[in-house]
Amino acid sequence: MSVKFQLNGKAVSANAESDTPLLWVIRDELGLTGTKFGCGAGLCGACTVHLDGKPVRSCQTPLSSVVGKKISTVESLSKNNTHPLQVAWIKHDVPQCGYCQSGQLMSAAGLLEKNKNPSDAEIDEAMSGNLCRCGTYPRIRAAIKDAASTMRNA
Ligand code: FES
Ligand code: FES
Repeated sequence: MSVKFQLNGKAVSANAESDTPLLWVIRDELGLTGTKFGCGAGLCGACTVHLDGKPVRSCQTPLSSVVGKKISTVESLSKNNTHPLQVAWIKHDVPQCGYCQSGQLMSAAGLLEKNKNPSDAEIDEAMSGNLCRCGTYPRIRAAIKDAASTMRNA
């Protein structure tokens, strides 16, 4: 099927089977490779993107479900690493291998969209679906708090 939707603010169309995971459409057909394949089963969060502003697992999102919707990937945060989350990620030296991090950033961005001052418990809950085999969780939490503070004071 041919599907039209918005990707990072631009109108795009994709041609694939209706049940093709959005992850593969974004990476293989539309060429944005920041979104990662981890488990392919909705369990790790590496493939997290936003659908109409909310974090979803793109490996579990069929192409047919995004007709006319707004999709944002990690590439939408900024062109030059100036989004407060990216600045905080660099400041706190968050990534280790880096594989999970685009998904972590998109879940964090979703959290800060709805909660400008999340507590530790709220961060842990919002980020609980994003696994990191390198154990960067303490730095992720610190960076989210830092970015939230920057965004509140902007
Ligand atoms: S690759 Fe989608 S949740 Fe793991
Ligand atoms: S930084 Fe390696 S899996 Fe998270």
